[in-house]
Amino acid sequence: MLLPKRVKIVEVGPRDGLQNEAEIVPTQVKIELINRLSKTGLAAIEGGSFVSPKWMPQMADSLQVMHGIKRHPGVCYPVLVPNLQGLHAALQADIDEVSIFASASESFSRKNINCSIAQSLDRYAEVCSEAQKLNLRVRAYISCTLGCPYEGTVDPQNVAWLAGRLVELGCYEVSLGDTIGVGTPGKAQEMVDCVAEKVQHERLAAHFHDTYGQALANILAVMERGITVIDSSVSGLGGCPFAPGATGNVATEDLLYMLKGLGIETGVDLQGVAAAGRFITESLGRPSGSRVAHALAGQLEKSRTCA
Ligand code: HMG
Ligand code: MG
Repeated sequence: MLLPKRVKIVEVGPRDGLQNEAEIVPTQVKIELINRLSKTGLAAIEGGSFVSPKWMPQMADSLQVMHGIKRHPGVCYPVLVPNLQGLHAALQADIDEVSIFASASESFSRKNINCSIAQSLDRYAEVCSEAQKLNLRVRAYISCTLGCPYEGTVDPQNVAWLAGRLVELGCYEVSLGDTIGVGTPGKAQEMVDCVAEKVQHERLAAHFHDTYGQALANILAVMERGITVIDSSVSGLGGCPFAPGATGNVATEDLLYMLKGLGIETGVDLQGVAAAGRFITESLGRPSGSRVAHALAGQLEKSRTCA
């Protein structure tokens, strides 16, 4: 098995994780979560979204969050923008990177951003051209790369075509989202192989939700294909209100444990992420979605009882 020596983790918990919470999470809790994650060695932590507050009320305070956090040197804090209006709002937050988000499925595009794939590309062309003038890096997501909640199967060729277009627009990286977590390792490899015919592996990332418990297996499968950037969410928080049935992203704690076991460097401290995970799950008042977090908490309890 040929695996990378080093993997970059993009922590999406404060955005993808918290966007799906039914109760509004206080701004101070979001800030504290990002501050704690910032001390763990992560190189990228998604800070929020500059989207319509009517569509995504949970992210309405992203400007306050971005103003409130203590930025660590060497950590990038990207934010999501769906259009020029979002980019202009995000600029007030002193950002160095934005993420745009398209979909490989026409129906999900309409449900998520209220426009067709073609219209979204027109909007993103404007965002990318403006970002280029401002020297801002743009990362792209493609949702529904392994299945759509409305259309079912998605043709990998559609994903490949869209990835190619997003790179042509100027995106430095394309994150391939299994938005509803239905993928399996063989399908994930097939999709990545198809996309890699248009966009080289070095510019691809994996963003796998864990609905069917396949996310770690899928990550291992795509690392074998040369992917070295993985998105994950502390405590396995996450989901998208426009993707019914989808659960959280792969948990950062679980990903770190697997990568450590494989001898793959990340530069990220598992115990620090687990502590940030305890903070956010206690704040939300429910158990962690990370198996590793539960195991570590059990060990902590045992050592306290023995002492
Ligand atoms: P729309 O209603 O078609 O927009 O929404 P519009 O241009 O017709 O404008 C309507 C109203 O929205 C106007 O306000 C605009 O000012 C406002 P009003 O006059 O009614 O008061 N508006 C905005 N406000 C703030 N920021 C903006 C903005 N744009 C317009 N940027 C829109 C279109 C794209 C805005 C909307 O559909 C939207 O915000 N969608 C975002 C949905 C979202 O956040 N989804 C989750 C993120 S994607 C995801 O989770 C998947 C991912 O994790 C990868 C994976 O897992 O696959 C990335
Ligand atoms: Mg997601």
